[in-house]
Amino acid sequence: MPTTETAAPTALDLSWVRSQFPALAQTVNGHPAVFLDGPGGTQVPQRVIDAISNYLRHDNANTGGAYATSRNTDAMLAEARAAVADFLHCGTDEVVFGPNMTTLTYAMSRAIGRELRSGDEILVTRLDHDANVSPWLALEEKGVTIRWAEIHDEDCTLDMANLASKINEKTKLVAVGYASNAVGTINPVKEIVRLAHAAGALAYIDAVHYGPHGLIDVTAIDCDFLVCSTYKFFGPHMGVLFGKREHLQRLRPYKVRPLTDAIPNRWEWGTLNHECIAGIAACVDYIADLGRRAHNPNGLASLDGQPRRPSPHGSSHRRAAIVAAFEAIHHYEHGLMERLIAGLSQIPRLKVYGITDPARFAERCPTLALRVADQSADQNADQSANQTTDQTPLALAAELGDRGFFTWDGNYYALNLTERLDVEKSGGFLRIGLVHYNTVEEVDRLLAALRQIVGA
Ligand SMILES: Cc1ncc(COP(=O)(O)O)c(C=O)c1O
Repeated sequence: MPTTETAAPTALDLSWVRSQFPALAQTVNGHPAVFLDGPGGTQVPQRVIDAISNYLRHDNANTGGAYATSRNTDAMLAEARAAVADFLHCGTDEVVFGPNMTTLTYAMSRAIGRELRSGDEILVTRLDHDANVSPWLALEEKGVTIRWAEIHDEDCTLDMANLASKINEKTKLVAVGYASNAVGTINPVKEIVRLAHAAGALAYIDAVHYGPHGLIDVTAIDCDFLVCSTYKFFGPHMGVLFGKREHLQRLRPYKVRPLTDAIPNRWEWGTLNHECIAGIAACVDYIADLGRRAHNPNGLASLDGQPRRPSPHGSSHRRAAIVAAFEAIHHYEHGLMERLIAGLSQIPRLKVYGITDPARFAERCPTLALRVADQSADQNADQSANQTTDQTPLALAAELGDRGFFTWDGNYYALNLTERLDVEKSGGFLRIGLVHYNTVEEVDRLLAALRQIVGA
């Protein structure tokens, strides 16, 4: 009997995966489209598109009415909440739907801010997306002091000693990302939560970037809040927030009076985007299906070998399938990432930021920030022949875009990081984001294109 450690990793059924995403068949200027823009938003499987349009076609109604479509809407919302609860590993009453992560975080910072006093402290990091920084900076107007955890510039990891030194008895909340949307670093969130709790502070985790790459388990992490965006993990443009039951009950949201005080609804203001929530249930269903197939390529049986039955509510079977999916995704993505980083390191003038040592790849996601060497130098200064402005991150992204490679350039709102690394004024980074629907052939074609463009 193989142990968990020695068992071969579960395999991803790539042709099935790609067949699920209609957008992947597009072409640009005669080139097949290569979606390397996952960190900005992933493509959606057909079932998500179907769920959204079926909802609008058959069940489009507001909630709580005494008629069929409204009752169907209530049932759909309950099922979607159960699906997200399985995705995050929490109770259904701990799942809050909202327009996006940023809006949910501002809502929560306002509510938490009601309890804070002048002199209280909040810790944020230089590595984070601004959506987990500015909502906390806004509390400075109440006299709250914001402290910053610094990074190690050389590998773009959090300086944990520095972070720990900034948590004290005045710290009320520690806001940290699970993974960096710019350089891919995965932070030791469980340890950070432990440090926050030891000081009596809350821990607020931004899992937006981690969501498509790794298994989220809020119960194991023991965080107080965790937010993610469903459009980053193969769903529609929305956000979800996990909040521990006790906090969702105790904190006071700003809300209209007729809205119930029951959780989680007291945190969901106005009418939700029902059609997108139908799509969220379908995207979790896709991930679970991927996991079932990873164990059983025929996709006919559940993980325990019993015939698969759809579960009306969150079930341990669905969670087990999600766990299996991320095992397969993780293994597959890491193979792609190793190949990409090895290839990039052969292109002399390209600099990859973040962790590049393969022995440490468990500490990063397959999201890469690159620059052509020396472009962080002041653009007004004399430039050497290889610092031409046609190789700025924007110029590279545009060249690649014309060849069908969808990448990103700039700071992607990880503003403190681009400022800290002094690349903000010269265009930030070129970002290449791999997800599990990318292929080895795409990686090889990208490397060939970059070699041509950069002139290696
Ligand atoms: C790490 C990270 N956090 C937060 C956000 C903001 O998410 P949303 O667009 O759902 O507000 C993003 C968006 O790119 C992100 O990458």
